[in-house]
Amino acid sequence: RPLVDPVPPLPALHVSFGLSIFALLATLYLVPALGPSFAKANLKGRDLLKTYNTPIPESLGLVCASVYILVLIIFIPFAFSSISLTDGHTHHEGIVVKEFPHQQLSVYLSSLLSLLIATMLGFLDDVFDIRWRHKLPIPILASIPLLMVYYADRGNTHIVVPIPLRPVFGTLLNLGPLYYLYMALLSTFSTNSINILAGINGSEVSQAIVIALSVIANDLLYLPWPVDFHIPLHLLGGQAEVEVGGVYSAGMAYGSTELVERHLFSLYFMLPLMGVCAGFLYHNWYPARAFPGDTLCYLTGMAFAVVGIQAHYSKTLLLFFIPQIFNFLLSCPQMFGLVPCPRHRVPRFDENSYLLHPSKAVLLQPPSHLGALVLRIFSALGLTELTIHPKNGTILECTNLTILNFLLLRLGPMREKRLVQTLIVVQIAGSVVAFTVRYGLANLVYDG
Ligand code: UD1
Ligand code: MG
Repeated sequence: RPLVDPVPPLPALHVSFGLSIFALLATLYLVPALGPSFAKANLKGRDLLKTYNTPIPESLGLVCASVYILVLIIFIPFAFSSISLTDGHTHHEGIVVKEFPHQQLSVYLSSLLSLLIATMLGFLDDVFDIRWRHKLPIPILASIPLLMVYYADRGNTHIVVPIPLRPVFGTLLNLGPLYYLYMALLSTFSTNSINILAGINGSEVSQAIVIALSVIANDLLYLPWPVDFHIPLHLLGGQAEVEVGGVYSAGMAYGSTELVERHLFSLYFMLPLMGVCAGFLYHNWYPARAFPGDTLCYLTGMAFAVVGIQAHYSKTLLLFFIPQIFNFLLSCPQMFGLVPCPRHRVPRFDENSYLLHPSKAVLLQPPSHLGALVLRIFSALGLTELTIHPKNGTILECTNLTILNFLLLRLGPMREKRLVQTLIVVQIAGSVVAFTVRYGLANLVYDG
């Protein structure tokens, strides 16, 4: 057994939990208190799916971001009060000195830096409506500090090859620089994919909450629980099945406390995020009294990218983004210009029945061959509905290619509140699939 300090660093976790409650209360109080100031600074928007025109304060994600980042900064001394479990000891004139964990501190600080850049980018987007081809590369560059720290931390760029592909690639495949490229793209995907699954009250922040809860549940699997149970360790990333319990947590049995520390780090970032998101959801829930703006989408997306990269579970993280991946793939024809993309792709609101219907994109010119092909395939798969010219058969309209319109198309028109509840159920179902794939099916293609 490795020689480790048997006391797990849980006091810091208690502080993190307490600060998250504080973040929740602060957001609950500050969002309505500051809303009028935001509206006065012209940060407001019309709720597109309502009968009334009252402007709703927008970009309140900035309040969430401020509370979140401040709480993370206040937490720094606590995070490093008990983290010295794995540190080397140096002898200094006969006295054993514990080294300060500079590595962990740089992980923490580079994460804060990325969150700050994401907040700034999101807020600038709210104020200036940046064109998305300009804003796509920014999270990629913003992830350089994260990647540098990953590199310094003997970052692993190997992937374990699934059994059927091993004759070709061998057991371990080193992706090298490609792995860094993949991680850089992860941050631009996670930020933008939440932003384009938006437009109905509560959608942005509820996605963030379900993903954060899934990440938290996953982190808890790796903590040193004071009970005896068996976890097949290869599922957690270790080598062999060992007894877990007492001071021998999964992570400790793995050879060091590294695994535990990474997941603690992830919890330190996810718990306060949960706090601000839950507080904000209260005001953003149907009928919304505050809008998140792009600031919240970028903040939450970057927070997920940060923990996925720094705690080395980016592939598991991506599994929690199944609805966003679906929405992104569905959106590609509109985002890459094959099919016209209106400024807003939110569902169409029927003022008489209060029901939402799939909204449509009008094709002023006949689509290109590729565009028409894609639309016909999507239509055959039930992903969109086309309006075809009765005589010459050209495509005149298609329903906008988003998961929200897709849900309305398949399940029929429904009210806004019902649609956001459906979206939440879809997101939770995605997480159930994610856990099944990660801890169930992974057994079939990996032997650990
Ligand atoms: C993204 C979507 C766009 C969608 C918009 C809605 C893509 C490529 N872009 O654009 O299709 O219409 O988000 O957020 O998919 N709003 C509501 N109710 C809400 C939330 C927002 O009516 O619950 C409206 C408000 O008018 C608000 C505006 O959406 O002012 C915010 O849109 P913005 O975030 O600027 O849009 P994008 O992120 O550029
Ligand atoms: Mg937006």
